[in-house]
Amino acid sequence: MTNDDMAQIVDTSDEWIFSRSGIRQRHYSHVSTGEMGWLAAERALAAAGVEAADIDLVLLGSTTPEEICPNTASLIKNKLGATKAAAFDLNSACTSWLYAMNVATDMIKAGSVKKAVVIGSERISLAMDWSKRESCFLFGDGAGAVVIEATDQQLGLMSAHMSCVPDSRECLHLPSWGMSPMHLTGDIHVSLNFEGQEIFKSAVKGMADSIAEVLRREGLSSNDIDLFVPHQANLRIIQALAKRLDFPMEKVVVCIDEYANTSAAAIPLALCDALTDNRIKPGMTILTASFGAGLTCGAGVIRWGQRVEPVAISDAEIAPYDGTVFDLMEDSFKYYGVDAQHLLSK
Ligand SMILES: CC(C)(COP(=O)(O)OP(=O)(O)OC[C@H]1O[C@@H](n2cnc3c(N)ncnc32)[C@H](O)[C@@H]1OP(=O)(O)O)[C@@H](O)C(=O)NCCC(=O)NCCS
Repeated sequence: MTNDDMAQIVDTSDEWIFSRSGIRQRHYSHVSTGEMGWLAAERALAAAGVEAADIDLVLLGSTTPEEICPNTASLIKNKLGATKAAAFDLNSACTSWLYAMNVATDMIKAGSVKKAVVIGSERISLAMDWSKRESCFLFGDGAGAVVIEATDQQLGLMSAHMSCVPDSRECLHLPSWGMSPMHLTGDIHVSLNFEGQEIFKSAVKGMADSIAEVLRREGLSSNDIDLFVPHQANLRIIQALAKRLDFPMEKVVVCIDEYANTSAAAIPLALCDALTDNRIKPGMTILTASFGAGLTCGAGVIRWGQRVEPVAISDAEIAPYDGTVFDLMEDSFKYYGVDAQHLLSK
């Protein structure tokens, strides 16, 4: 869905959205968080040359699980055929993937897990309130996954710092997106509450603090970082952070123009794009940082291994959607009281 598409249902423009956020378009999915997560995991396993049956842990970072019970990681695990794997979901909003990477890495270091697939998958389009032009353009759907495994070498997520900024819990809030008592009355209205400028300030400070902590732990300065792969929430947030760190934008991976904010999927998607674009070289030191509702924050230093080419390419696919993005979102437009009948192809 391009900004021009968006401008057909919301009072906005490509010029406003791009200049305020760096976003040009976002993708909305016709399949669930679990389906997208499964596809990303299949592709990651093929790229890593690892069999699903050898995986000990399927860990899904997501704010938009299919159901709360059972978890969505178990659906993905069964579809992958990861028969011996444990499976759980982790929700810290947009930081879910980074939190999940830290948890899985620590489990590997502790010895309880040898190989894990860590997924970020979100179908956040279903929570977009089209009557709120200040937030509905910001998000997109997507999924990404990585495979990590035990090694004697100094590789992977070397240091991570996770935090949760005090007193900022209400800046970004999706009331009723869970087991609130309203579910018993059927009187549910899901709508994102959002204080954009508050989040902006807290995010830059929170990520800068976490970055300072991981660099200190690794004995590094920003000059030692080869590539920075930040959460993709707003280009201006990324630029403000890079300026604060005195870090050149040429070394920053930016793909928000293409995908918008895909929440937990944003960093694994950006990592995949960086690999595809040959921006990740053997042995690189990569910095990553994220923030999300809560207000959760985090940063990590990743030391990449020698391989930057996939071992194999998976042929797994999902069935294509036969319709336009307006057709896809028809029920959502109705739910939020937007008249989009004239935009439907059928
Ligand atoms: C949302 C965000 C892009 C808004 O940018 P901003 O510069 O703060 O813009 P403001 O909210 O101050 O709005 C400025 C004006 O644009 C208007 N506006 C808001 N949304 C608009 C839209 N989609 N199109 C056109 N105008 C819009 C506002 O009504 C306001 O008008 P006014 O000055 O007449 O009152 C920015 O605050 C942001 O990115 N915040 C953090 C993002 C985030 O948290 N993402 C998710 C967390 S993981």
